[in-house]
Amino acid sequence: KRTIWITRHGESYYNLDQRIGGDPPLTDNGKKYGVALGKFLKNYYVERKSEKKCQKNKQIMEGKLARTYSSPQMTDDNFGTSGNEELINVWTSTLRRTIETVESFDEQHFAVVNIKFLNEIYAGIFENLTYNQVKERDPVEFKARADNKLNYRYPGAGGESYVDVIERLRPLIIELERMECDTIICTHNVVMRTLVVYFLGLELKEMPNLNVPLHTVYKIEPTPYGANLTKYFYDV
Ligand code: F6P
Repeated sequence: KRTIWITRHGESYYNLDQRIGGDPPLTDNGKKYGVALGKFLKNYYVERKSEKKCQKNKQIMEGKLARTYSSPQMTDDNFGTSGNEELINVWTSTLRRTIETVESFDEQHFAVVNIKFLNEIYAGIFENLTYNQVKERDPVEFKARADNKLNYRYPGAGGESYVDVIERLRPLIIELERMECDTIICTHNVVMRTLVVYFLGLELKEMPNLNVPLHTVYKIEPTPYGANLTKYFYDV
C-alpha cells in the first residue's frame, strides 16, 4: 500500500494580489508552511515509524499544524513502504515557489527532484497580471475563459488550457501509477486539481473550479476502486 501526498506551494507574493503564473518567491507565511510540512512529514515517516505504535489525535507539528491529527489506518504493517534508511521521493515543479516550499526538508530522509511537467498552467500573454488586469485589458478573452475554462487556451506562445495540462501530466500519472513507494508532490493549483480529480475519480467538469486551498496537504491512498483522502490543514 502506498501513499501519494499532494500539496500546493506555500503562499507566494502573487497569491496576495491574485496574480497569474510568474515565478514569485514565498511570503514569510509560505515559508512557515514549508517548514511545518517538512516537520510533519518527517514525523510521519521517521519518528512515528520508530515509535512502533499508533497514537491517535496527537499534535504533530510544532507551530499549529494539523490540529487534530488522527491516523486510524496507521499500524506497523501498513506504515508506508520506506524503512528509516530509504529516502522518500519529493517532486516539485521547476518554479521557485515549490522549490522554496521544500527547501527545509531534511536531506537525510527526503530526495527532492524538480520536474517541469509539474509547473503551473502557462498563461501566455497574461502571465504576471492580476485577474482584474486581464479583465480590463481584454474583456473578450476574459469572458471566453469564464465561459469554457476547461478548454480555453491562454493566448501567446506556450499558452495552455486545462486540457493541455492534463495531456502533459499523462506520463507523470503513468509513472505515479507504477511507483511502489510513497511520493510527495509539491505543485500548483491547476496541476493539483488535475491530479486530485484523477486519483479520486471525480468528474472532469469539476476540475477547473475544484477548491484546493493553500497550506493543505492531501494524503491520497489509492485503492482498487478509488482512493482514500485525508486532508491536513496548516493554520499559520
Ligand atoms: O492563483 C494561483 C494560480 O496558481 C495561478 O498561477 C494560476 O494561473 C491559477 O492559480 C490557476 O487557477 P485558475 O485556473 O482558477 O485561474
